[in-house]
Amino acid sequence: MKLVAVERGDQQSRMRTYVRQNDCKNDLRRDSYRLRASGLVWSDESDESMTNTEALTTKPVAIVTGGGSGIGRATVLRLLADNYRVVVADLNVDGASETVKLADAAFESGRVIAVRTDVRCEEDIAAMIAAATDGFGRLDTLVNNAGVGGAFGPVSEVQAPDWDFTFDVLVRAVFLGIKHASKVMEDGASIVNVASAAAYSGCFAPMAYTAAKAAVLSLTRSAAVELAPRLIRVNAVCPGAVRTPLLEAGRGEELDALLPLAQPLPRWGRPEDIADAIVYLAGPGAAFVTGESLVVDGGLVAAGPGPDFQSHLGTDPRKRGLTGVNRGTSGERSVVHSRAQ
Ligand SMILES: NC(=O)c1ccc[n+]([C@@H]2O[C@H](COP(=O)([O-])OP(=O)(O)OC[C@H]3O[C@@H](n4cnc5c(N)ncnc54)[C@H](O)[C@@H]3O)[C@@H](O)[C@H]2O)c1
Repeated sequence: MKLVAVERGDQQSRMRTYVRQNDCKNDLRRDSYRLRASGLVWSDESDESMTNTEALTTKPVAIVTGGGSGIGRATVLRLLADNYRVVVADLNVDGASETVKLADAAFESGRVIAVRTDVRCEEDIAAMIAAATDGFGRLDTLVNNAGVGGAFGPVSEVQAPDWDFTFDVLVRAVFLGIKHASKVMEDGASIVNVASAAAYSGCFAPMAYTAAKAAVLSLTRSAAVELAPRLIRVNAVCPGAVRTPLLEAGRGEELDALLPLAQPLPRWGRPEDIADAIVYLAGPGAAFVTGESLVVDGGLVAAGPGPDFQSHLGTDPRKRGLTGVNRGTSGERSVVHSRAQ
């Protein structure tokens, strides 16, 4: 069963109807529900007059930043499986193209657009939003997911530009995304910010990253309150240790042995685990959930990671005496500063 959002054009009640659709495109609508400005009303109505073409062109539209890799790519594919049309926004054009290739191979073509976007740049964010509204005619969901590891090293040695870079990618970008999406979103839309389990502890990740992800949770709550009267929901997902290029960084199997030392559920998180949570929060199943953060971490936060957690993962650069900035898989070069700088 999948969901297709259908505009009814009823300006006064500002109503939007979501129609459940079977996997088979020709077998439309078993049941439906209506989302009004006043709340959620379940209904068993089906509209027999709607053609298949109408149903397909009214699929909901999502943007996924950082959709060219890891969690973002898994989210794009999961949204497509749920009948969304998707804009993949990424600085890494090769990664975004690969996501589109995978999408086109698995789903009917024409449901994905890729836009080169640097999420730090306000003009790029505005253009990304326009790609959804001009290309697909609407915007139902924004997933602010793009991320990097950011500044690392002992606090006394972290360089201020590296700290600023981290906050630009992880926090400024989320603010810009919410700002521009909220201008065009209609009532009932949703935003999901990808924060991190690191927001809950001082020992998951480098300080700048941890502080930035905590800021994302704060931003999520404030935006949720401000946008609630318009029924625009804003939530966050907090992944734990998820096997993506960002975390893996070429270390491969070495990581397999490390995680069970620190995490209750004895397996790595998969990008699909996080995509499932994002799509739940984005969609009508979470219609009464806003300002919330959903931790998806195999029990890491519940167990309370010890101070050596980063060492278990082999991700504590301080242990190796390194200071610098990790620009992740964006295509921009990461830098390790020498001690003299
Ligand atoms: N992997 C984990 O264990 C983990 C844990 C907690 C939170 N997260 C968060 O999940 C999100 C996705 O991370 P991932 O693990 O999938 O990493 P990833 O490196 O696989 O994907 C990140 C994507 O973001 C893009 N990106 C980076 N900088 C950008 C910029 N300035 N503009 C546009 N795109 C940019 C990259 O090109 C890449 O496609 C991030 O916000 C990350 O902080 C990941």
